[in-house]
Amino acid sequence: MYYSDEIIEEVRLRNDIVDVISGYVKLQKKGSTYFGLCPFHHEKSPSFSVTPSKQMYYCFGCGEGGNVFSFIMKYENYSFTEALQFLANRAGIELPKGEMSQEEKRKSDLKNSLLEVNKETAKYFVYCLRNETGQRALEYFKKRELSEDTIKKFGLGYCPKQSNELYAYLKSKGFEDDVLKESGIFTYSERGVFCKFFNRAMFPIMDINNRVIGFGGRVMGEGEPKYLNSPETILFDKSRNLYGMNYARTSKKPYMLLCEGYMDVIALQQAGFVNAVASLGTAFTGRQSTLIKRYVDEVYITYDSDGAGRKAALRAIPILRQADLKVKVVNLKPYKDPDEFIKALDNEEYEKRIENARNGFLFMVDSMATERNLSDPDDKSRFCNDVVDRLLEIENDLERNVYMETVSSEYKIPMDLLKKAIGNKSLEVEGKTVPVKPQPTVRKSEQKEDRTKQAQKILITWLVENPSLYGKISGIISREDFIDDLCRQVVELLFEQFEKGTLNPAMIINHFESEDEHKEVASLFNRSLRDDITTPEVERAITETVRTVKQNSLEYKRTNAKTIEERQDILMEMAKLKRFQLHL
Ligand code: UTP
Ligand code: MN
Repeated sequence: MYYSDEIIEEVRLRNDIVDVISGYVKLQKKGSTYFGLCPFHHEKSPSFSVTPSKQMYYCFGCGEGGNVFSFIMKYENYSFTEALQFLANRAGIELPKGEMSQEEKRKSDLKNSLLEVNKETAKYFVYCLRNETGQRALEYFKKRELSEDTIKKFGLGYCPKQSNELYAYLKSKGFEDDVLKESGIFTYSERGVFCKFFNRAMFPIMDINNRVIGFGGRVMGEGEPKYLNSPETILFDKSRNLYGMNYARTSKKPYMLLCEGYMDVIALQQAGFVNAVASLGTAFTGRQSTLIKRYVDEVYITYDSDGAGRKAALRAIPILRQADLKVKVVNLKPYKDPDEFIKALDNEEYEKRIENARNGFLFMVDSMATERNLSDPDDKSRFCNDVVDRLLEIENDLERNVYMETVSSEYKIPMDLLKKAIGNKSLEVEGKTVPVKPQPTVRKSEQKEDRTKQAQKILITWLVENPSLYGKISGIISREDFIDDLCRQVVELLFEQFEKGTLNPAMIINHFESEDEHKEVASLFNRSLRDDITTPEVERAITETVRTVKQNSLEYKRTNAKTIEERQDILMEMAKLKRFQLHL
């Protein structure tokens, strides 16, 4: 981290969490807490809470949580530093530049300049579209039945034939060559500097915050390539962006429509299917599925109905399923793509196709079946083998069983045969002796580790909920007793705060950089403890927790003790622990 704790804390304090989150989520006050629909998973009733006194949020549905930095990191897909800059900016705080490393500063400046270049360029293309030069492109968009609103909404434009005009314009605006070179918009040659997109209809590519990060340009009429796209730059990482996501993420639908191209997204969104996004010609990636998973749990693939589209769908399905997304495939036949479909028919017909979409797994099976002649016994057994391979990729037993049953009945493969084949194959895969399930011994030790970590976490939760506990257990529990790394880091900061008499859990989160850590730390501070139990019960519960934590720490110490004295001390402490009894 290159910023001081003080400045980070100032930025946090000046961005009230309720204020900030209200900009993204509709919140309603209930008592001292605000509730809303969680932006990180799909839900119908609000389990997403924001607590002003803690300056933290926590979702009781999916467990996402953290402070104002965590929220912005998660929602906007920012690194910690980017979230800090964003919130500093929001609060009008100037961050000291000196605290970034040279390289970081260069990158951050370059990023900002590139954003400016892209913004100016997009504006210039829009301006050209409305000029005589852009006449033909405007007619093209109109011919494709795009409304004025749609053209505006997607910032569509035109890049003129005179391929050095844009360059001259940007230079006149004060942009330097070192920045323009990095923008990916120009070709630098001995004959001069030219815009790569000359004489193309332009589609700006926006990130989820509506910032232009790249461009796609469609050739006017016939020509190769049909679409020319910006190369990757430090702004434009193709593998982690989806075209149309800036709008799709605001849709209330519990699923997204995944298409192939610009025109599909635009046509679908124009028709009211705002939840349409596209991976833009490049192969669909795991990062893109993670991005989708942030908003919904289900994806309908609506790729072109030709062979290439089908192949692309077959590649995307496992990637989507891996991100724990449910997948279905929309059949557009006899139309080529969603754009054509929606123009030829109407919304209702498209809705019907959505309703009748084929389950992603079964779509894969169907496709394997079309490669074989199932009336031929050899071919059919090869097909069965392929199916078994696919079934084995499903980790969840229950889910696998459901698919086995469906495949068995749809393709007339006897269930017991399938079961047997799966049993045999899983033995092969696991090296003959080991069954698919993990070995029980591994499980036990994991359980134990979980239990002691669990106790450390619960103790932290008790302490935060009930700070007076600190004085009562500090004679028996110290920082070192929290042997889990994350718990100890938290406890060190927490105890420091207790000693100063200033409990401030949201500040503790500042000390962690990754989203996962934010989430885990937030869960410590937000877990709700049962409040329907009596004081003696609470005393017993905490006593038990303290004992587990301490006992475990002492055992750990004992295995590492080198001298007899050390061991004796440990034994005495163990005896003392036995007598420990908490009184609230
Ligand atoms: P398509 O060829 O299906 O284009 O490619 P389309 O969207 O239907 O285009 P129109 O309707 O003819 O204008 C699908 C997507 O693949 C990418 C583009 O993102 C396109 O939208 N693509 C295609 C390229 O990047 N380069 C190409 O040369 C072609
Ligand atoms: Mn297409």
